[in-house]
Amino acid sequence: MHLSTAFPLATLAFLATANPLVDVASRTGQAIPISKHHLYRRADWTVNATLIQEKVINSVAKIHRGFDIYEKNTGSVHPLASGRLRSKRATGNDLLTDDNARLWYGTISVGTPAQEFTGMASVLCTPKPRLTLPAVDFDTGSSDLFLPGPACDKSCDGHTKYEPGSSAKNLGKPYTFAYADGSTVSGTRYEDTVTIAGLTATQSLGASSTYSTGFNHDRFPADGLMGMAFQSLSAYDASPPFQSLMTQNQALKPVFGFKLAKSGSELYLGGTNNSLYTGDFTWVNVTEPAHWQVELGGFMVNDTSTTVNKAAIIDTGTTQVVGDPDTVSSIYKQIPGAKSAPEFGDGIYTIPCNFNTPFGLTFAGKTFQIDPATFNLGNTSPDACLGGLSGNADVSEDFWIVGDVFLSNVYTAFDVGNKRVGFATLA
Ligand SMILES: *[C@@H]1O[C@H](CO)[C@@H](O)[C@H](O)[C@H]1NC(C)=O
Ligand SMILES: *[C@@H]1O[C@H](CO)[C@@H](O)[C@H](O)[C@H]1NC(C)=O
Ligand SMILES: *[C@@H]1O[C@H](CO)[C@@H](O)[C@H](O)[C@H]1NC(C)=O
Ligand SMILES: *[C@@H]1O[C@H](CO)[C@@H](O)[C@H](O)[C@H]1NC(C)=O
Repeated sequence: MHLSTAFPLATLAFLATANPLVDVASRTGQAIPISKHHLYRRADWTVNATLIQEKVINSVAKIHRGFDIYEKNTGSVHPLASGRLRSKRATGNDLLTDDNARLWYGTISVGTPAQEFTGMASVLCTPKPRLTLPAVDFDTGSSDLFLPGPACDKSCDGHTKYEPGSSAKNLGKPYTFAYADGSTVSGTRYEDTVTIAGLTATQSLGASSTYSTGFNHDRFPADGLMGMAFQSLSAYDASPPFQSLMTQNQALKPVFGFKLAKSGSELYLGGTNNSLYTGDFTWVNVTEPAHWQVELGGFMVNDTSTTVNKAAIIDTGTTQVVGDPDTVSSIYKQIPGAKSAPEFGDGIYTIPCNFNTPFGLTFAGKTFQIDPATFNLGNTSPDACLGGLSGNADVSEDFWIVGDVFLSNVYTAFDVGNKRVGFATLA
């Protein structure tokens, strides 16, 4: 069953009292440091290619589930959901996959804020002060916020739980997200005060009573997940967290920026952190405001460029770059020593570990190179390494998914106001 019907968010009455703790007028933006957790690396830094393949499948499934939600919310078939793909997909209520190979997460706070806000570590919730704040995975490939709830069973062990306090309103609406492995995340929807990097909004969120195996603490170090795409992808059909912050903090610039790199990763809310990039942004318009979907102009391998003009979904919740099998095969043919590796799954390739073929993706006429060190995901054997690009038949001719293998090489601006994505060179 699908979860919910729409409910009105931010009323004018709320805006009048929004967030007394933060001087929004003087605020230009706020940074949240974020951490990265590699679950696909073994202790010896070899790569678990099986896990990577699971992750590709899960990422593709997540995008397809977004198409279902879009159709429920808007009454129209998503333009990228072709008849063939639609008939292959399960119908129903699920939004998120156990997208667990590489996570980008940071803390937020939920509940009635305490008087002093001096930093993330000092935010308290009523009735119980909490010393540990829930950490969420920031996912631009989905649009809902959920956390482990107070009544969560053993499946949430090890995670910080959301304790609804005086500011919480139980909406009495259940939700269930089903996952590829047959397990589910389910619970009850609340509306509560959510504080992210000092910005506060009343927000719809899920308090889970069960977590799927993919969210078990050993596989998913964050506590919950915060979707950062558009409302048409919200399984709650509610305003996603960043959009709520925008509506309820008028001074907040409707842009957020990500630096996802080996060190110094950061999510910036309310603009972009100009000490983290150089030069101008190359902007690409969102072609359908559901996912962060833009046109991928093409790619360049070893000085040869190829035009593709396909939809690309920019997804911080996906590790690799995922494309259609034929194009991906043609790219690996231009990489000396690259080999198809069906032993790890369809569409998986290995590259020589000293791989240094220039490879980049082209957006709005500008090619952004992927550092060979980012493209190389680690050893599958002493002399073969896993390539950061995979083919998947379920993305077919319709779209690519552009994940961290690319995003780690650029500073990315997600412009909600103008519905566009910008890429700039990392400082
Ligand atoms: C921008 O990034 C720099 C470098 O990481 C950091 O020191 C600074 O605090 C960030 N700016 C803001 C306004 O948060
Ligand atoms: C690789 O990941 C899979 C899927 O999570 C897991 O079942 C398997 O034990 C892992 N293998 C190794 C050798 O780490
Ligand atoms: C992007 O969208 C803006 C606003 O709708 C429009 O003015 C501009 O021409 C578009 N750019 C391209 C390259 O289509
Ligand atoms: C680039 O292409 C040339 C010609 O096919 C090939 O000889 C060379 O090895 C390639 N270089 C790299 C770094 O892949």
